[in-house]
Amino acid sequence: MKILFIGDIVGQPGRQAIRQLLPGLRERHALDFVIANGENSAGGNGITPGTAGEIFSAGVDAITSGDHLWDQKEVMDLLASEGRFLRPLNYPPGTPGRGSAIFEVQSLKSKGQSPILIAVVNAQGRTFMPPLENPFLLAAEEVKKLRQQTKIIFVDFHAEATSEKIAFARMLDGQVSAVVGTHTHVQTADEQIFPGGTAYLTDAGFTGPHEGVLGREIEPVLKRFLTGMPQRFEVAKNHILLNGAVIEIDAASGKALNIQRVSEKLE
Ligand SMILES: [Fe+2]
Ligand SMILES: [Fe+2]
Repeated sequence: MKILFIGDIVGQPGRQAIRQLLPGLRERHALDFVIANGENSAGGNGITPGTAGEIFSAGVDAITSGDHLWDQKEVMDLLASEGRFLRPLNYPPGTPGRGSAIFEVQSLKSKGQSPILIAVVNAQGRTFMPPLENPFLLAAEEVKKLRQQTKIIFVDFHAEATSEKIAFARMLDGQVSAVVGTHTHVQTADEQIFPGGTAYLTDAGFTGPHEGVLGREIEPVLKRFLTGMPQRFEVAKNHILLNGAVIEIDAASGKALNIQRVSEKLE
C-alpha cells in the first residue's frame, strides 16, 4: 500500500497547492492514504477548524502538527472533537487532543477485502525546541501499544536537530513502517530504508511558497537578522511547491518497500 506524507502546509498558498496537486498525485502514485502536517496552515501560524476542513476536503486523511500547535486559539475545538487531527504525543498528561490514531483504509490493491489499519503517530523533538516530555520513551511505548492492532505505523517526528531525528528513527527501526521528519521546512535528500524495514527521511520540506525564507517574505526575516528587532512575518507568494514523500509499504509485514521524495510545482 502507498502513503503520501506532505510536509508543513504554509498558509493559503500551501492549501491551494494541496487542493490543486493532490488529486493528480493520488492518481499517479495510486495512493491509499494521505497524511499532512498542518501546523502552519492558518496564515503561517497554527491551524483552525476552517483550514483543517479545507485540507481534509482536498483529500488529506490525517493531519499532524508541531510546535505551532497553539498559535490559533480555535485549535482547541479541533483537539476536542477532530479524531483525524493529531498533536505531538509528548505533551504532559492531561493536554487536550491525541498523539496517535488508527485509521481504517480500503487499500486500492485489495478491493473487497477487509480494511487495512494504519496508525499515525506525531511526536516532537526537544533539541533547540520548547521542552516537552521525552519523545523517545513515549513514542517507543506508544508504538508497542499500536503494534497490537497494526504493523502499519507512520510517524511524523517534528524536530529541529538532524541527530535527534536520525537517532529517534533508528530506535524505531523494525517497529514502524516510516519515520519522516518535519519542522525545518527544508527537504533533505537522505531518504532510505533502514535494515529493519523502516523508511526514513530527515525532513519532508514544506508545502507553500518557496520564493522566501521557509515560506515567509524575505525582507522582514532579513530585517530581523540585521536589527534583532521583532518583525511581522507575512507568508510569501511565489514558487509554490508541494513537498513530501511517497512510501510504499508491504501491508502484511508493515515493512517499507520504497520511499520516494516528492517536490511538485504548482503551475
Ligand atoms: Fe512548520
Ligand atoms: Fe514546527
